[in-house]
Amino acid sequence: MERKKVGIAGCGLMGGGIAQVCARAGLDVVVLEADEGLLKRGLDNIAKDLEKVVARGKMTAEEKDEVLGRIRGTVNLRDFSDRDVVIEAIIENLEKKQNLFRELDIICPPQTLFCSNTSSIPIIEMASVTKRPGRCIGLHFFNPVPVMKLIEVIGTILTDDSAVQEGVEFSKAIGKTPIVTKDRAGFVVNLLLIPFIVDAIRALELGLASAEDIDTGMTLGCSHPMGPLALADFIGLDTVYYISNILYDEFKDPKYAAPLLLKQMVKAGYLGRKSGRGIYLYNT
Ligand code: CAA
Repeated sequence: MERKKVGIAGCGLMGGGIAQVCARAGLDVVVLEADEGLLKRGLDNIAKDLEKVVARGKMTAEEKDEVLGRIRGTVNLRDFSDRDVVIEAIIENLEKKQNLFRELDIICPPQTLFCSNTSSIPIIEMASVTKRPGRCIGLHFFNPVPVMKLIEVIGTILTDDSAVQEGVEFSKAIGKTPIVTKDRAGFVVNLLLIPFIVDAIRALELGLASAEDIDTGMTLGCSHPMGPLALADFIGLDTVYYISNILYDEFKDPKYAAPLLLKQMVKAGYLGRKSGRGIYLYNT
């Protein structure tokens, strides 16, 4: 693959991880944030992550500097005007995503491939506000992005087959394994993962076993790297709640319905690791 120019909108946990992975694969990366403060925080997090990689002896300090040298931060969307691929990884808010896609459509050349990292919003909602729906796909990464090998590549009924193929090739070029899925709530992974997590929370709510024992059941009984409750805290209980509501709204199947315990924890601000308390307590 030629040295692609990639634009990543959003430098939070996902966007920062995607920027890091693309730069490590040798791509030219521009990463956008809403203001200078958020941009600095995002870029600092990427640098800290890479320092850990160096400390573990998996990269030299020179290589780290080269990787960082391939990432340029900006707060100006116009800096995406020469990008071959743009990956949107901003907040899960449809209106904000649509506004971004509308602006990108004006700024970027017609051949630029537009990708969204949304975990739950149908890609067609973003594609349909652009004049290039055939060039809009989903590229769904997993957290932690530098570690998780999978990317879901999503094509809508308006997407050109060639654009899906480009998403597949792009995923391989950055060292990931793509799977192709249709534009349906939850795609493949969350359609299966969210009911599993929600069931584990339901089991906890029913007093079936302690949180630790439910998780040990799945780590030692099924070799999962994390139990479903620890994973819920890792993903964020607010995110699990949000996706379960989307799946329930779409399919009206009670297996996706959020248990009361999950709803109450989110309302209480117990969001998992990021807030210091979720199903488990964390030292922040
Ligand atoms: N960033 C970068 N690297 C990380 C990292 C992070 N946040 N967390 C761990 N790593 C790296 C470590 O540095 C280590 O690398 P090396 O092997 O090169 O030394 C490797 O990952 C293993 O890490 P640890 O030994 O510290 O910890 P671990 O073995 O317990 O693994 C884990 C941690 C990778 C998070 C593992 O527990 C795991 O795979 N958990 C499941 C994660 C998962 O399912 N994610 C998907 C969530 S769903 C989603 O994201 C989609 C959605 O839409 C909700």
